[in-house]
Amino acid sequence: YNGPLEVSMERTTLISPADVEQQLAFCQSVAELTARWPEGKPLAFVDTYGCQQNEADSELLRGMLCEMGYQITDTDRGADVIVINTCAIREHAEQRVFGNVGALVHGKRRNPEQIICLCGCMAQEPHVAQRLRQSYRHVDLVFGPQQLWRFPEFLRRVMLRRGRVFETERDEGAIAEGLPVRRSGKLKAWVSIMYGCNNFCSYCIVPYTRGRERSREPKAILDEIQSLAAQGYKEITLLGQNVNSYGKDLEGGWDFPTLLERAAGIPGEFLLRFMTSHPKDATEKLFDVMARCPKVAPVIHLPFQSGNTRVLGAMNRRYTREQYLEKVAALRARLPDVVLTSDVIVGFPGETTPEFEDTLSLMEEVRFDALFTFIYSPRKGTPAAELPDPMTKAEKSANFDRLVEVQNRISLEKHRAYIGTVQRCLIDGAGEDPRNNLTARTAGGRLVHLSGDAALIGRFADIRITDCSTWALFGELSAEHPGAGG
Ligand code: SAH
Ligand code: SF4
Ligand code: F3S
Repeated sequence: YNGPLEVSMERTTLISPADVEQQLAFCQSVAELTARWPEGKPLAFVDTYGCQQNEADSELLRGMLCEMGYQITDTDRGADVIVINTCAIREHAEQRVFGNVGALVHGKRRNPEQIICLCGCMAQEPHVAQRLRQSYRHVDLVFGPQQLWRFPEFLRRVMLRRGRVFETERDEGAIAEGLPVRRSGKLKAWVSIMYGCNNFCSYCIVPYTRGRERSREPKAILDEIQSLAAQGYKEITLLGQNVNSYGKDLEGGWDFPTLLERAAGIPGEFLLRFMTSHPKDATEKLFDVMARCPKVAPVIHLPFQSGNTRVLGAMNRRYTREQYLEKVAALRARLPDVVLTSDVIVGFPGETTPEFEDTLSLMEEVRFDALFTFIYSPRKGTPAAELPDPMTKAEKSANFDRLVEVQNRISLEKHRAYIGTVQRCLIDGAGEDPRNNLTARTAGGRLVHLSGDAALIGRFADIRITDCSTWALFGELSAEHPGAGG
């Protein structure tokens, strides 16, 4: 595809550069306040829950905090500003946030000047905002994910007035380009390519918290990837709730496979990953691009959620069991060794045990490399939360245990098949076990433990796999290819 990078359409979803400029001016205005801090720079702590999209958002929050004169710290103790970037996907995630936010009250009593902010998906739930307003009075600032780009304005307002600020109106969302970012790693980077979700799976809160689907312009994305590659990033992950919807709101024939192929044409030694893919929109065109671009990692996260067509319908997933299996077959016809991971929900309202057993049989048929397994958690405001849910907790957890057992066996079998092979891996960090002082990832994203010189961190190297567990591979630097890696 050699079409234009500039998308000519008047983008109603693009925040005007003047409005972004204004936020940068608010950063300067806060920086004048923080410059008068009595000793050194004030400290800011950003705590992240939830998905990679939230991790990426937190890197923007940190970028803005640095512009405002803060030094980033990794603990709430002694922090002058605390930002909790929250997730609403399951009850358990929310309870953890409420527990941790509640505990911050003690630190605030010791340091009443401390500013506590809560943002992310929970902030966009009306009942949560209400509860924070009434019962968590030590929280100064609450804003939803669509308002993230206005953080400097809000923080300044809190600092100047010392009043509480709530910016939690329902918001369809827009796109702000040109915000400062402070990335957490030097090897791996996130690049959001789109925001929001239009799928409204009946159990899921995300379409209510993240607004409507909107795509970044291809030029902004490709420039960002190019700059990351030039800085030496080795693994770049393209993010969206459903990357396969990319470009539906753009002119010029852009779609995800086109973007991915263009990104793979950028020079540099790096691998491209992406998540998440909704099976209904994962096309053969995407699989073809994966197969022909060596820079695109041979791995796909393709959540199936259930192996039963009736349950899939009730979940509003818009594919059947057979259609899911056909997608997997089309993918494997092109990439026989592709690493396939997925998400599954156990105990969706009304799911019977025979229907659950269809999930087990789909797992046996597909044999996923790894599976993220969840027990259904009702989310206020979603259609599924209104459905009758007769199955007991005990039955659901018995089914859950059966599922985990099946997947653990499959994961172990799949890992055993790696033993004796040589895998080109990115050595990405230090391990905790002194005998295996390094960690690495295969191109497909499987974790490898090995021992070697720490100077290899950040290099691609050939690793011979010697052993495995359910969760990881063990290996050694391959003798034929010492892995100097260039
Ligand atoms: N956009 C991504 C998923 C985001 S949420 C996608 O569609 O693939 C990640 C996973 O959390 C989902 O795939 C689903 O398996 C799980 N999940 C979402 N809502 C849930 C709920 N209410 N209860 C339990 N699991 C849920
Ligand atoms: Fe939620 Fe479905 Fe959207 Fe994923 S595709 S974020 S599961 S509504
Ligand atoms: Fe959680 Fe929001 Fe991500 S609900 S999973 S942080 S999109």
